[in-house]
Amino acid sequence: MDTEPAVTAAPPAAAGRQGLPEPLGAGFLARPEETLAEIRETCPVARIRTPGGRPAWLVTRAEDVRAGFLDPRLSLSGGRVPDPGVRRRALDVTLVNYDPPDHTRIRRLATPALTPARMAAHRERIEQAATELLDAADAARARGPVELMDAFARPFAFRSLCEVFEVREGERAALYEPVALLADKTGHSARAVEESVARIDAFVRGEMARREAAPGEDVVSRVLAAWHEQGGASEDEVASLLAMLLLAGFDSTVQAIGMSVAALLGHPDVQDSLRKEPGRIPRAVDELLRWDTPGPFSTKRVALEDVRFGDTVIPAGSGVLLSVAAANHDPRCHADPGTLDPDRRSAGRHLSFGLGPHYCPGSALARLELTVALTVVLGRWHHLEPAVPLHELAWGGGYLHRRLAALPVLPDGPA
Ligand code: HEM
Repeated sequence: MDTEPAVTAAPPAAAGRQGLPEPLGAGFLARPEETLAEIRETCPVARIRTPGGRPAWLVTRAEDVRAGFLDPRLSLSGGRVPDPGVRRRALDVTLVNYDPPDHTRIRRLATPALTPARMAAHRERIEQAATELLDAADAARARGPVELMDAFARPFAFRSLCEVFEVREGERAALYEPVALLADKTGHSARAVEESVARIDAFVRGEMARREAAPGEDVVSRVLAAWHEQGGASEDEVASLLAMLLLAGFDSTVQAIGMSVAALLGHPDVQDSLRKEPGRIPRAVDELLRWDTPGPFSTKRVALEDVRFGDTVIPAGSGVLLSVAAANHDPRCHADPGTLDPDRRSAGRHLSFGLGPHYCPGSALARLELTVALTVVLGRWHHLEPAVPLHELAWGGGYLHRRLAALPVLPDGPA
């Protein structure tokens, strides 16, 4: 169908090329929920142009976003079927390029490796990593504010991944370089990116060979065990899956840690109450994920058929972005969404990990890391203030993946 769908109201941003509004520009990164709230309340299914110049449909109401995640007509592969005869390298094909049934046959290899119980088995080592990093930050803080992203969030998220993958100590530094480069390619040449992909590919294949010979309790061994039991995927697809777990598991968690601490810096009363009662932190983690998330939108879907949301029909062939951040602040789903309430009962209904077949398989690890990070940070320092006004924090990345460049804090402690 090629008729232009009805749009219920005029989208509230300046019209750009070809008359489409472009609401996701630079200002969007610091405070996405303000722009998204305006769109959600005035034009909940809005046709816009992305900063990359492409037209896309934004779906912003919680009910519609949930329905969108569950709708098989909104495809991640765009209808392309992978050719099993083509040799693939790490990241050539990832879960977010696949639809069922190909998605299902590969995804089921990862799910048993990342359950909450399996992740909890690594908790002690993850706590140890957090404590050691804060020891180092404490030792350095006489020299001024602590830059929490470099001193803590990045090395902590990386070490947590190394723990669950059981990466050998001697290999960690060499692995960090390509993981960090691929997480933020800014300023790196296409060649450096290619080399990093090749290094991850070589690392993953080396780990697969090592774990075939001597299986353990790590993620690679668990994925291989599921593969041998169930089959249904090529060796290249398994390598690609493992590489994706490593990369998808890194920067999202780094950023979620930074954004959670930033939210607590802006809410000293919540910070103090969680410090006094750390048993409330696991539920607060979900509220912090609702409050702010690195990914304000789903990965872009393509409508394989016309898809209706309320009064609006998104025509077949259109690009669709499901707005997680708009849904997380939708008052129809979360009462008084502008209040950070660590005990919020509806917090678990946030969509920051998505929903449906592509629901984040790393959510248990991410929740564990956030719980440990906040428990250790709040336990260590009895007061934490931003070293610069929060509205001056520098945001980078893009509208699909926001990135807090630095988070300088002034700790006062130990508690
Ligand atoms: C707070 C941290 C994290 C956030 C906010 C996050 C968010 C998400 C979201 C929203 C999706 C669904 C995307 C969509 O349907 O469009 C997703 C998928 C995915 N995530 Fe996460 N994630 C996080 C941490 C992790 C970790 C720690 C891992 C791995 C250890 C991971 C691995 C993946 C993978 C492999 C997918 C693709 C799943 C599929 O397509 O079936 N993520 N994540």
